[in-house]
Formats: sequence, C-alpha cells, structure tokens
Amino acid sequence: MTKIETVNQLLGDRALETDGVGKAYAPANVALCKYWGKRDAALNLPVTSSLSISLGDIGTTTEVRLIDGADRISLNGERVAVDQAFATRLTGFLDFFRPTAGRGFAVDTVNTVPTAAGVASSASGYAAIVLALDDLFGWGLTRRELSILARLGSGSASRSVYDGFVKWHRGEAADGMDSFAERLDVDWPELRVGLVVVADSAKPIGSSEAMARTVATSTFYQQWGSRSETDLVALEGAVAARDFRVLGEIAESNALAMHAMMLTAIPPILYWTIGTVDTLHKIWALRETGTPVYATIDAGPNVKVLFEAENAGSVEKAFPGVRIVAPCGSEEYRD
Ligand code: PMV
Repeated sequence: MTKIETVNQLLGDRALETDGVGKAYAPANVALCKYWGKRDAALNLPVTSSLSISLGDIGTTTEVRLIDGADRISLNGERVAVDQAFATRLTGFLDFFRPTAGRGFAVDTVNTVPTAAGVASSASGYAAIVLALDDLFGWGLTRRELSILARLGSGSASRSVYDGFVKWHRGEAADGMDSFAERLDVDWPELRVGLVVVADSAKPIGSSEAMARTVATSTFYQQWGSRSETDLVALEGAVAARDFRVLGEIAESNALAMHAMMLTAIPPILYWTIGTVDTLHKIWALRETGTPVYATIDAGPNVKVLFEAENAGSVEKAFPGVRIVAPCGSEEYRD
C-alpha cells in the first residue's frame, strides 16, 4: 500500500474540483505517551500507540483554494519559495489531492507556534490542511478518515484533528487503515499546559530521520515497546480517574525515556539546549516545594509544563512569558 492508494481508497469517487475556498483550524498536540519509531516509514505507521492532549488555541489555521499553475504557499503571511523544505514537503502532500497535473493550490497557513521548533507545528499543520481540503472539496469525511489522511502528512498530525485527550491506535493492518486517532471522552477543565519556548530556531534533525536512526542504532529501543505499552495503560487509568500526579509522573518519565533513547543512538541525537535543562531543573525545584508540575518535551528544545489551574500563578512566576492553554476547552472537534 502506498500513500496515494490510501488516499484513493478513502476518497472513492469524491470530487477534486471546486472554485470555492476551504478553511480550517487544528490545534497542536503534545504526547503524554510518545510516538517514536515507525513500523512502516512510507505510511507513517507507528511501532507503538500514543496518547496526547491538544494545545487549545496553539495551532494552525489554513486556507486553501485551487488555482491554475504551480502551488503558491504562504506561511505566516510570507510567501515560501518553492525549493524550501516546508514547500516541497507540502507540495508533495498536495499532489495526492490535485485534480489534474496543471492545477495548483494556493495555501495560506498561519501558525501560532514556532515552525519546526518541536512544538508540533507539523502536527497541527498537516491536520489543518486535511481539514481545509475536506472543507474545500466538501468531502464530508469522518474524523477517523481525516485522521488517517493527516497521518500521511505527519504521524502526530493524526492526533491533531481532535481536541482534548486523543489516542492514536498503532493498528495491526499492513495498509494502515486501522491506524487512526480517536478522542477520549474525558473532560478535565482544570488541566493546563504551559509552553516554555527556550529556542525557536529550526531543529538540527527532522523527527523521521531521528526516529529511523534511533530504531536502527539504539540498544535502548528494544525496551521501548513494552515500556510504552505499560505507560499507555497507566496513563489511560490516570486520565479516567483524573489523577494528575500519576498523569504527570508517567508523562514526564515517558518523555525522558524517549530522549534518553535518542542519546544512545549512533551518532547521538540531542534536541535539548541549556534552556531546556534549566527549565527542567526549575520544574523539579517547584515540585520539591510541593507544587505538582511536570515536564514533557518533544523533538525540539522547548518544554511543555503540565499542571492544574490552581497552580497557574506558580508556573507564571517561575516562567515569565509562558503561554498557557487549557486542552479540554472546546466542543468543536467532536463528530
Ligand atoms: O509527527 P512527527 O513525525 O513530527 O513525530 C513527532 C514525534 C514526537 O512529537 C516527538 C512525539 C509525539 O508522539 O508527538
């Protein structure tokens, strides 16, 4: 199975022609139990299932329309040159949805997160373009189908077509049709995520390459499957019981295990900067003094702080400029 075969299977005979405009928003997400490693690189099928929370109003808004000629892509109001990595990757993805070779897409995408800073901008980006295409062509696909399409753009994007708590099932099928994300029916209005941006420069190595290197060379990777399964079960229990301390402990440890694994890859991968380490120490110091705050870190230097609303003051004091969101905040993403 290839990406285009997956797209064709999902779209069937739905239209690929319109003179309208499609528009959509998708939130970024942060995994509490991480996706790190692909069982099928071509289809972005993961080795393990994962669990995330969405980042509310931190995400991507995308507008798309059909035009004659080549794609015209703008990011945060600025035209992106066709040979830039952002454009070539997006154009390659749009090829799956092009009515004819001579037609292009005009895409205006606006991120409220630093692009390529490990704040899951590809997750919200590919979820937003898929939702915008569904709006443009009027396909009326289900969230599950949209999740599969978004996964083809970026694995973690499969989770960004929902808000709140989201589980991405690894699936067993070779064609990946059972590898989609689903929203968990849990509300946790007091839950907060603080985004501490320590650097907004592009990351040194993309997540796909870093995953492949970890799987191929890290001896720690052999333990990742069972570790991840244990964490996922415990996290689902913590979410159902709204047990914040258990959720925080497991999420932080899962993230650190993922980064430890990368350090043991050859050559080693380290996304952290001094600011990352400093932020971790501050979080641990807060915990020492009795404030339940925990960290998670994706493929980048920035840190997401997990806490509950009553501790927002302590987090703001420790991290001036922190951007705080409520993951369980809106009704918009439910089928
Ligand atoms: O979707 P990708 O290929 O950018 O992978 C993202 C992987 C992590 O963000 C590090 C973990 C995750 O589960 O989102």
